[in-house]
Amino acid sequence: MSRQPNGALSPTFRKTLQSIRGKRYDRGISLPGSFYTDPLWLQTECRELFLKDWFCVGRVEEVSKVGDYFSFDHIGEPILVVHGRDGMIRALSNLCQHRGTVVASGSGNTKKFLCPYHHWAYDTTGQLLNAPHMETHRTFDLKQCRLPELKCEFWQGFIFVNLNPGAPGLARELAPLEKVIKNYHLEQMSLRYLADEVWDTNWKCLLENFMEGYHLTPLHRETLHKVNPSRLCTHLQPGKRHFGYSVGFTSRLPDDRIGHPDLSDEEMDTCIMFALPPGLTVGIGSDYSSFLCLRPVSTSQVNVKMGLIFHGDHWSQQDIDNAIELFQHTMDEDKQVLVRLQQGLGSRFHRPGPLAGPDLEGTIWDFYQYLSRKLGPRQKTVKN
Ligand code: FES
Ligand SMILES: [Fe+2]
Repeated sequence: MSRQPNGALSPTFRKTLQSIRGKRYDRGISLPGSFYTDPLWLQTECRELFLKDWFCVGRVEEVSKVGDYFSFDHIGEPILVVHGRDGMIRALSNLCQHRGTVVASGSGNTKKFLCPYHHWAYDTTGQLLNAPHMETHRTFDLKQCRLPELKCEFWQGFIFVNLNPGAPGLARELAPLEKVIKNYHLEQMSLRYLADEVWDTNWKCLLENFMEGYHLTPLHRETLHKVNPSRLCTHLQPGKRHFGYSVGFTSRLPDDRIGHPDLSDEEMDTCIMFALPPGLTVGIGSDYSSFLCLRPVSTSQVNVKMGLIFHGDHWSQQDIDNAIELFQHTMDEDKQVLVRLQQGLGSRFHRPGPLAGPDLEGTIWDFYQYLSRKLGPRQKTVKN
């Protein structure tokens, strides 16, 4: 698909997003394959979603101690998340203020960050500590120099960053979702498994996959189906910022889960799956939960940081290992089918197909509505 000279979306993309806006679930169809394969469209998604909106970068437990840090590249922006010596967790631009080298790499615990190029040193709050042989410079003031701080918010134990300094806050917009999930107390769960992978599929395919229950029974017949089959899925009312569904447990699952005391019996027996697009999906269980943080690498590759967080400290290592094994097994099943989906989306014969009802694929339609609101043409205000 082509782009108009002024950089606006091509008429075809605009028309598609406009045509789906506000339509009922029983008219839902999948997006054309080009939405998943066109590099210019991906540029639009990166620019308008991942570089302007809030994105989740991980859990606060990853940086629980002073000096803990992790670094990553977010659509070409090097970012450093660090627990400073003043007790604050910050997101910083990971660029040396000398000539721009990326300062920190990987993750760990440190007292200071040393730029490898000319050894400028920064403390864990981002303040420059030392710049060798710079005393003679007339305008350079070491005390005024620091790694730029990025907008950062914490919600339910997740760390969110926004590269847009003027962006409105996140937490207030999540109040409707918080009502549904508050008793699970994600903020009290602790991280016991973390992995970083690149999958060979478009980022939207992975988000959609995690967020629909239609495939739970057919694709995960030997794994999730035994616990959370498709027939127990229920669509949840979407909000401005989120969408999701719930799924019950089968009676085949031993009823020995321990969850937060605030949970009702019904909540104990219900998983809540929600997405905060563009990049976060969470599967909440009463005893443990999973999450994925997504960011595109290319049209056909996505970086996924995934983790498991557990309620309480009653877990044996064997129980944790079993949960990790089930998670890895189901994720492998998803990974394999998403490669095949991506292959199909690139075919000249690909056509949009009908979506199943709200309980099974309503969340996909909710996601498209989000894309339509964010990337489609603005709705005209009708004057009376
Ligand atoms: S670029 Fe970092 S010290 Fe020179
Ligand atoms: Fe799946």
